[in-house]
Amino acid sequence: MTVAISFQKVCKTYPTPRGELHALRDVNFDIEEGEFFGLLGPNGAGKTTLISVLAGLARASTGRVRVMGHDVVDDYAMARRSLGIVPQELVFDPFFSVRESLRIQSGYFGVRDNERWIDELLEGLGLADKAGANMRQLSGGMKRRVLVAQALVHRPPVIVLDEPTAGVDVELRQTLWHFVAELNRQGHTVLLTTHYLEEAEALCGRIAMLKQGRVVALDRTSALLASAAGTMLRFKTDDVLPAAIAARARVTGRVAQVTARDAAEVERLLAELRTAGIRIEDLEIGRADLEDVFLSIMGSSPSAAEQVSA
Ligand SMILES: Nc1ncnc2c1ncn2[C@@H]1O[C@H](COP(=O)(O)OP(=O)(O)O)[C@@H](O)[C@H]1O
Ligand SMILES: [Mg+2]
Repeated sequence: MTVAISFQKVCKTYPTPRGELHALRDVNFDIEEGEFFGLLGPNGAGKTTLISVLAGLARASTGRVRVMGHDVVDDYAMARRSLGIVPQELVFDPFFSVRESLRIQSGYFGVRDNERWIDELLEGLGLADKAGANMRQLSGGMKRRVLVAQALVHRPPVIVLDEPTAGVDVELRQTLWHFVAELNRQGHTVLLTTHYLEEAEALCGRIAMLKQGRVVALDRTSALLASAAGTMLRFKTDDVLPAAIAARARVTGRVAQVTARDAAEVERLLAELRTAGIRIEDLEIGRADLEDVFLSIMGSSPSAAEQVSA
């Protein structure tokens, strides 16, 4: 197998008034060609920083990154050309139409006679009737689609999407996943960061989890799911949960969700609730999902101060 992206002992520190902030700590893994790879982590974990280093927009403090064998610093042009990056922030030039901006991006990568592919992109991303529209006339969701088209205009072998579905509607999510999954089937490598764990669970073959700049889990999605406490207990209550259970529960309004390793632990939890006099309704018992795995790996929420060392 060929390596598409290689992160070798990547560290990135930012100077701050309080000392150095360690945004990335010894990030060290490879993504194989053809993988659909998920990079997960809470806000501030370092996902965008890692992608900026990959894209050559930020320089690693130490370590190396290669894309399709090209070092992102020593061989920047070839590395960049191998990548299609959909950035987290909506950045665009308001003066051009959708089609013009795709032509300009093609020119930037030295791609000529690209109209057929541009048409395909416009069609596939549901932008065909917006080709002549000015960028500033588009809704946020439509701009997001254009950013995806721009990233793909030079047919890069490696596609990187940084939270592409944050705050976008269901229809765009579906168009986007359909399109990206098809490109992955055709052999493109995909690196995705997302907050939507059910998307990662559905799409990604392997997942890395970042916490405070460090990779704290990396495995096949199925293995991560299997490693979790396998059983999920969900119920409704109006009572205040005992502290020991509250600390490990996912609570949404009246609904509480707790994971358990096995049937004996389920029984123990129910006994604890009964002893504490908690009245529960609508008890359901099911399989743990990626969000349960994520929460158990991330553990108690870390303080930002831990990331800074003088
Ligand atoms: N240009 C910068 N200067 C200083 N600190 C930064 C800069 N960019 C990011 N950071 C910090 O680095 C950490 C990682 O941020 P980021 O990579 O954006 O995380 P994520 O994308 O996972 O939310 C955060 O603590 C963030 O505040
Ligand atoms: Mg980010």
